[in-house]
Amino acid sequence: MTEKTTLLSRVLPREQLEPHLARAVIEEKLRNAIIDGRLPSGTALRQQELASLFGVSRMPVREALRQLEAQSLLQVVAHKGAVVAPLIGEDAVDTYDLRILLESEALRQSIPRLDADDIAMARHYIDQLEGDNSHAEIGRLNRLFHMALYAKAPNQKLLRLIEVELNEEERFLRFHLSSMGVGKLTQDDHRALADAAAEKDVDKAINILTGHLGKGLDTMRLYLEGHAANGN
Ligand code: NI
Repeated sequence: MTEKTTLLSRVLPREQLEPHLARAVIEEKLRNAIIDGRLPSGTALRQQELASLFGVSRMPVREALRQLEAQSLLQVVAHKGAVVAPLIGEDAVDTYDLRILLESEALRQSIPRLDADDIAMARHYIDQLEGDNSHAEIGRLNRLFHMALYAKAPNQKLLRLIEVELNEEERFLRFHLSSMGVGKLTQDDHRALADAAAEKDVDKAINILTGHLGKGLDTMRLYLEGHAANGN
């Protein structure tokens, strides 16, 4: 059998896994490679190739792929099998409309209940965001900042929905800030949002958030246009 050099085999060097650890190890290796961009959107993850790279049967591979599919990191496409999921698509506008709805409601519920410690925590994340950060770290801190302001909302299901959206944004930021030449994001919106929360001014906070998320949408549009222009 001839050995083709595929992207998968370059990213995940051949190794022999212990059968009882195989599912967890394969899942972890694939997840890391998807999150940090070594396996880009659209990369095919073939069960047989993975099984042969790790010297295991297809069963643990199939299980690992199923876990990653449940985390929305890959999708199963007809006739192609499992491929790394697209990061964002035409639904970016819908996503942002939905985020404005969800996060405005979270601010409405949470702001009256925030205390001085909560505000200090949010400001602490802004200070960290102003430092020198990797793009991965910017995504993480941005998520933590926003969740700090929403955290006191009593509706836990609302918070879980918001966290899914923020995870998606985190993945976008860590992949694409550098490719767009964005080194640093301005923290003006975040500061204004923390100030409004400290003043318990819910309407003002919602206005700032709406503008802030709108800028995020513009950034995604810019990225998508650039991406289309590059022919990939
Ligand atoms: Ni933000």
